[in-house]
Parts: sequence; C-alpha cells; structure tokens
Amino acid sequence: MKRISGFLIGLLALGFMHAAAVKAEGSAPQPPRQSNGLALTPPMGWNTWNKFGCTINETVIRQAADTMVSSGMKDAGYEYIVIDDCWQSGRDAKGQIVADPERFPAGMKALGDYIHSRGLKFGIYSDAGKLTCGKRPGSLGHEYQDARTYASWGVDYLKYDWCSTYSQDAKSTYETMSDALRASGRPIVFSICEWGLSKPWLWGNTIGNLWRTTDDIYDHWQGRHSYEHSVMDILDLQVGLESYAGPGHWNDPDMLEVGNGKMTIEEYKSHFSLWAVLAAPLMAGNDLATMTPDIKTILTNKDVIAIDQDPLGVQASRVAKHGDYEVWARPLKGGGRAVVLLNRSKASHPVTITWDDLHLPSSLSLKVRDLWTHKDLPGAKGSFSAEVPSHGVVMVRLD
Ligand code: GAL
Repeated sequence: MKRISGFLIGLLALGFMHAAAVKAEGSAPQPPRQSNGLALTPPMGWNTWNKFGCTINETVIRQAADTMVSSGMKDAGYEYIVIDDCWQSGRDAKGQIVADPERFPAGMKALGDYIHSRGLKFGIYSDAGKLTCGKRPGSLGHEYQDARTYASWGVDYLKYDWCSTYSQDAKSTYETMSDALRASGRPIVFSICEWGLSKPWLWGNTIGNLWRTTDDIYDHWQGRHSYEHSVMDILDLQVGLESYAGPGHWNDPDMLEVGNGKMTIEEYKSHFSLWAVLAAPLMAGNDLATMTPDIKTILTNKDVIAIDQDPLGVQASRVAKHGDYEVWARPLKGGGRAVVLLNRSKASHPVTITWDDLHLPSSLSLKVRDLWTHKDLPGAKGSFSAEVPSHGVVMVRLD
C-alpha cells in the first residue's frame, strides 16, 4: 500500500512537472518576428487587374512580359509580372489549387518559367478567405499547401486579398500566410491587400512587405464611386501614414491607372509623380502592348523612378497646402529633397515651396533639377516657385 501510494505520488509529481514544463514552453516569449528581408525599395512591376480584370489568359501574360522588356520598362526597373484574380478554376482531390486549364493550358509552372526567361519575376494572387473577390477558391485552410505550390511554380510575389473573410482577425490571418510563405523555402514578397480596414500599417511591417491603405483605385482624377477611390481621394488618405513606410515595408496606395484612358496625360503625370514621391509600389496597370509613346514616357521616367526607389525609403509628407495648391516633399539619400508642386484647380497657377516648409534656413542656396524636362534650372535661395498646369505637377529635386 505504502509502495503503491509512493508510486502514485511519484506519478502525480511527474505529471505536475510535465504540465508545468508544457505551460512554461507554451507561454515562453516568442522571439520578435523578423521581416523577410525582401522589397528594400518599393516593388515595381505590372498587374493584370486594372486593365484586364478577369479576362486574363497566358497569352496576355506572356505578351505583357515581352512588352515589359521591349518597351524599356524592365530597364527602367519594373520587375514583377503579377497575375491577379481569376486564374484559378478549383482544387483537385488532394486540395491542390488548379489553374483554369482553358485560359492557362500550359500551366503555371511553364508560365513562371517563361516570365523568368525574360529576366522578370512572377507574381500571383490569392485571398485570405474561402473565396476570392472573383469567387474563385481562396487559401483559407490551405495556406501551407498553397505556399508550397506557389514555390514549386517559381512564384516570387503573392498579393493576398481580403474577400469573404467575415470575422477573421486580419493580423493573425496574414501571419499564417506569412509563415507559410517562409516555410516554403522560397523568397516571396508578400503584398497585404486588406484595403486598410484594420490599419495594417500598425501591424504589417514584419508580416508583409506592403499593405494596401485604401479600397480600390479607379481611373479618375477626383471623387469617389462606391468603394472606388480616385487619385486625389487616395492621395488625401495617405496623410499621416508617412512614418510607417520604410525599406522592406511600404504603404500601398494601390496600383497605377496610368494609360487606362479616363484621365489626361497631365493627370497621369501627376498620378505617377505623386506615387513616386510617396515611395509607393509602382505596379503598372495598363495594356503594355498598346500603350502610346506618351504613356511609355511617363512610366519609364528614370528621374522620377529614382525618387520612388531612393534607398532611404522615406515617404513624402504634405508640407504645405493652400487651398488647391499643395507641396509634397521627402528627404533623399545623400541630403537632397524631392518636391512635387501640385495644382488641383481648373486653371494653371504658380505654386511655391519655401525652405521654411522644409525646415531649412532661408539663406541656403540649392540646386534645382526638373525631373520631367530633365533639365537643371537656376539655383534657388529661400524658396522655389513654378507655374503648374491645371491638375498637373512640377516635380523637382533640390540639392
Ligand atoms: C480587390 C482588390 C483588387 C483586385 C480585386 C480582384 O479586392 O483590391 O486590387 O485584386 O480584388 O478581385
């Protein structure tokens, strides 16, 4: 009896020690999540959605990859070819995601190989819920399986949407896919497309590399149309988010509409200049194969792209606003500054930046370079003014 109770006491003690050890293990502080080391400058590329929506197929993608190279866009820094929603048709008996066999007969691995053979990188889209916004299968419950599949196809970039997620918690949902991508063993840029609903700038910086700050953009200068935002509307929504952006983690004011036909050339120049000064991802969203020379000139402006890609990675702030006339500015590596003078009004008007707006002494003389005419302008002391066309910008670099 004595022996038995001693044995029982021993067992109980062991059980207690085991439970205590498990508890200690479970509650041990986790090391802070590290970023994946990718996207040290804002990602640049092309995405199917803004122009093609669901009418995509492998010919459209191959053509975009070809034109990215032949148009000089690759040389200008564009890298990712991203297939947005509607490439999926279902899951097979093992739960593996299947690409639409009619639209993508050669399969995703072959398409990825083609994109890579052009010296470009391959991006794909999925959704954190059961269904994507286009009602295709999402990744919920298949995160690790899908990440492994993407890795086996050679995927380099995943845009992860937020449709049909109901009561899911955004942070932990995106953490799951972030972990799954890392576990796949392939470096994959992770684009959080949660539309800014739960302020992803507060939690996204070590989970993903970029996060959408708003609902969708549409090809319009001003106003809002149900859940869609115009360029000026999105611009206003970036105020206050500056401090959250930096190398490896960017605010994403959505993809470019440059060249989609509903805005003027002047407005597209403004859209592009503003996205660059905001250190936004530059994802072209037009039909590259049919773009006009004007549009190509905008998308391949290397002086403007250099501002977007500045290694310091500081997003511009609105440093002055006088009614329709605004100034956006950001510091650059090496001590220079990029400045966008914006005129939202219906008539041409002068816009001025003062050194005071930049917290610089007014006695300072600075060199001025116009990033659209690619010419050095006369130096300026204390302020710089320029006549800015209606809905237009003047974009300069001050050194
Ligand atoms: C939206 C997303 C768009 C596009 C679309 C596809 O939620 O914001 O950029 O991906 O879904 O259905």
